[in-house]
Amino acid sequence: MTQDELKQAVAKAAIEYVVDGEIIGVGTGSTANFFIDELGKIKDRIKGAVASSEATAERLRSHGIKVFDLNDVDTMPVYIDGADEINAAGAMIKGGGAALTREKIVASVAQKFVCIADGSKLVDVLGKFPLPVEVIPMSQAVVARKLGALGGEPRLRIKDGKPVVTDNGCYIIDVLGLSITEPADIEDKINNIVGVVTNGLFARQGANVCLLGTSEGVKKLE
Ligand code: 5RP
Repeated sequence: MTQDELKQAVAKAAIEYVVDGEIIGVGTGSTANFFIDELGKIKDRIKGAVASSEATAERLRSHGIKVFDLNDVDTMPVYIDGADEINAAGAMIKGGGAALTREKIVASVAQKFVCIADGSKLVDVLGKFPLPVEVIPMSQAVVARKLGALGGEPRLRIKDGKPVVTDNGCYIIDVLGLSITEPADIEDKINNIVGVVTNGLFARQGANVCLLGTSEGVKKLE
């Protein structure tokens, strides 16, 4: 099976976690996009969705799914999203698509985080995938120096010769070369650097369930 077929398989399997009559939190990225396409097929069963990015909001609307502002939603039973890496305890690196801050905010309002990913995302130790850190633009140099002092190699994310600008008007620094054996500690340490909006470690609040697409079928970790 191709990586896209594995992503599609977990996206289909995740429909089981959709709660009828409720609002669902929806992540960002190619796996989340496959999920949105599946959600479109059962859209009459849900009240609507909260999106973790402008791109996700647009795709949800294109399927006729009502998009709610998070400020109008107190809680939701489930948030479904992909990951760049996940370990067996459900701690993740996210933000490859630059949507980490809104993803973390929407996930914080949900009672359950269901991660959907192809099997290649499961790792023993997080950090081979560069850790995304969203920063206030004026702080990018000072934050980069501090991230370097933690042992990583910080690189400002650039596309078409310009810094990538997030939906929040911020920049992304990707930190290479970290071996993250204590993800919750590193998550806290990086969040404590002045100028950091958020970082892509989802360890303090990780995934409750992970559906992994493998050539032997969808495997569930919980
Ligand atoms: C976006 C994310 C995505 O969930 C992550 O990058 C995985 O993406 P994909 O499903 O395309 O592999 O965190 O900010």
